[in-house]
Amino acid sequence: MTDPLENPLLEDLRACVPGMNRRYLADFEISRISHRFTDVLIIGSGIAGLSSALSAAENRDLEVLVLAKGDLEESATRWAQGGIAAVVLPERTGDSLEAHIHDTIEVAAGLTDEENLRIMVSEGVDRVKGLIELGTGFDRRTDGGVQLTREGAHSFARILHRGDTTGQEITRSLVEAVLDRKNILCRPGTFAIDLLDREGTCIGALVSNETGELEAVWARQTILATGGAGRLYRETTNPSVATGDGLAMAFRAGAKLLDLEFIQFHPTTLYLAGADRFLITEAIRGEGGVLRTKSGEAFMERFHPLADLAPRDIVSRSILEIMKETGNNKVWLDLGAIAPERIRERFPRILELSRSFGIDILSQPIPVRPSAHYSIGGISTDSHGRTSVPGLLAAGEAACTRVHGANRLGSNSLLEGLVFGHRSGIEAARAAADITRPEPSQAVDPGGGSPAAEAAKNPGGDLDLADLLSSLKSLVWYKVGVERNGEDLSNALEQLSAWTAYPLAADFRDVESWTLQNMLQTSWLLTYCALRRRESRGVHFRADHPERDDVNFRRHMSISRADFST
Ligand code: FUM
Repeated sequence: MTDPLENPLLEDLRACVPGMNRRYLADFEISRISHRFTDVLIIGSGIAGLSSALSAAENRDLEVLVLAKGDLEESATRWAQGGIAAVVLPERTGDSLEAHIHDTIEVAAGLTDEENLRIMVSEGVDRVKGLIELGTGFDRRTDGGVQLTREGAHSFARILHRGDTTGQEITRSLVEAVLDRKNILCRPGTFAIDLLDREGTCIGALVSNETGELEAVWARQTILATGGAGRLYRETTNPSVATGDGLAMAFRAGAKLLDLEFIQFHPTTLYLAGADRFLITEAIRGEGGVLRTKSGEAFMERFHPLADLAPRDIVSRSILEIMKETGNNKVWLDLGAIAPERIRERFPRILELSRSFGIDILSQPIPVRPSAHYSIGGISTDSHGRTSVPGLLAAGEAACTRVHGANRLGSNSLLEGLVFGHRSGIEAARAAADITRPEPSQAVDPGGGSPAAEAAKNPGGDLDLADLLSSLKSLVWYKVGVERNGEDLSNALEQLSAWTAYPLAADFRDVESWTLQNMLQTSWLLTYCALRRRESRGVHFRADHPERDDVNFRRHMSISRADFST
């Protein structure tokens, strides 16, 4: 097969994107900024970041520092509704580790890493029990045992949940535990701009601190747990912090990124003018919710034998098909088969939120359509969270452990963040204990001398960043969305190259602008990867290559900054 990087069109585009080769977004002089030292630096405070903090802090001789872009509680974890999958009560349900592994492989479209998957599923049982010991209040049955529910493509009821606010409850218990540990320090409102490295080894991060000052945080080991990139899309279930910052930062530091094209779209997001795109959990369909056209047809039966419980990529594409067929910009989720008391008990948040927009879900269907939900690809890691850059680990949605393959089974993401977050913390603590703290005097080259650094002298003051951001999100949604094709992707890449060249090379001084630079860079990489995979697999559907092509593409595909050097 020809390597798509050798495609002349892409060669040209590469040459058009000088900003892609930039090492640091901020121009800084190491002698003029303040310094701070720590042992294990964790960037991000979702389930992966907080779990890694707790396990790293088991070594009481080490200091662990957690940075969060916004509040400590603000992450995709907090927004998770459905729950966390784990085989915690096999004797009650008849479930088994093998069944969980089998279900995950079934949806993963031929690309699962079975070793990491086995680790996730088997260690996940103890990790989830650990969450319960920390005080996470999952819903209970009247006999006191945890309630377990079933979701699409799971063959057993194995999802632990807390109403429809599972993520909020997990976040609460993890934040409390982290704040309780003497050797964990947290700094919310601190934005990591770039990873610092010396001769290719990560030695911390350049951050914009709580007062907006640049600061170098030197660390023996650094863990990126910055979450995904759903906010690249106009329609998304993700919180405002999910802007791909960690992916862009890792890319600039030379880390290998994997499978970026695999973006999972959630089929059912509330679709009302003016309302935030609120996730309507798949668990509603698990409880009996049915997708219907405006005229009432239960259309999923037409598309898959599992009907409304089909894998979510199929449901998302079926909804788009129906939207085209009927000329409506949404479909309706009918809860008529679920008893009102069950809705009140199980989905209180959706009930309350829908009411605030004038919809009573006890008697009315919910208008929904798909939106970007989860970044399956990310920073390539091994089973201990180690990336291709020494001293740098990654966990959670920012990482790619390859367990989800090309399509993620619902409720496996919190489990992955929990298990591999824990493992990364252990590994970072082990490695940190073996090395001395880095010295600022052995510091970094801020990238001076490169064409990008010269271009970086441009203050970027004449750009309408709000306009660029809105155009970017529309472009990515329409051209790199649920259904893709080569022509749209090539056009999008060309457009992104034009947009990227100037702003990526500019020298900004605020978090909003750095975030936009990260979004531009991540969008470019995502689009490039989607163009390069000329087949349909899992969540990646190419209308111009509708079949899976195992001969050429049954493999994980990486990209790194080294691919851009001329
Ligand atoms: O539908 C949901 O509650 C989503 C769950 C997940 O993404 O794992």
